Amino acid sequence: MEVQVETIKPAIGAVVRCDKEAFLTEEFAERCLELLEQHTALVFPQLGLTDEEQLAFTDMLGDRVNFTGTVPGGDEAAQDVYTITLDKNVNTEPEYVLGSMFWHADGICSDIPPPKATLLSCFNPPNKGGQTEFCSTYAAWEALPEEEKAELEGLRVMHSVTAAVREVLPPDQINPSRRYMRHEHPLVWTHRNGRKSLLLGCHADYVIGMPLAQSRALLARLHEWAAQPDFSCRHTWQKGDFAIWDNTGALHRALPYSDDSGRRMHRTTVAGYEEIA
Ligand code: SIN
Repeated sequence: MEVQVETIKPAIGAVVRCDKEAFLTEEFAERCLELLEQHTALVFPQLGLTDEEQLAFTDMLGDRVNFTGTVPGGDEAAQDVYTITLDKNVNTEPEYVLGSMFWHADGICSDIPPPKATLLSCFNPPNKGGQTEFCSTYAAWEALPEEEKAELEGLRVMHSVTAAVREVLPPDQINPSRRYMRHEHPLVWTHRNGRKSLLLGCHADYVIGMPLAQSRALLARLHEWAAQPDFSCRHTWQKGDFAIWDNTGALHRALPYSDDSGRRMHRTTVAGYEEIA
């Protein structure tokens, strides 16, 4: 079967149709990186990857990283696969999964460069809700009026785990190992290849040196701008679907789903090599 690529929106998203044999090759891994550069988020319907196959593909794209760790009760045989579920029999810290229902990028508060790409397979689709949305922070930057770009360049933002889970957990209930994870970053990320993106997400707490209300209002407005329909797309999961996105140029979030929705996703992550500058 040939690889078929169908653009979802000019700013973000493509559906890629291919069979597993074509997918699991070094040649396709290289093509996938090009497609990622072009479309930011890729969805592969019904690919049906096993954990081992997903890990093998992850390794073809770069170094694998698991900054969250396998959830308690997760599959010990697949240590670098993070199971995303609200099922308390599998995940004893579901509050961090609830945090994924708000726009975010992965790994922004840790001290290592943010992951290059996130890979997600649907093992069990939710009975209701639980779609994943992606928005392009490249497009969000590029479409801003020049005058506004000039105002935003040079601003710096404090990102923290406390801010990331603000909507789901009071600060004193955050696991102490994560409570103080915070990192200052520029609001406008100039990538090594010269492209720029807005670095946003629910972990973006405040703009440094700006009064709190104005700073949070600015961030809220930029989130609305970045998530507008022209810059975003949504995937409704079916069993066996697979997605990959450029974590350095996109935000993502899961639409709400309930504890007993049955939703179970397996995530792997490709390490990033680029400091945010
Ligand atoms: C994630 O936030 O890494 C996963 C998003 C999802 O569960 O749809």
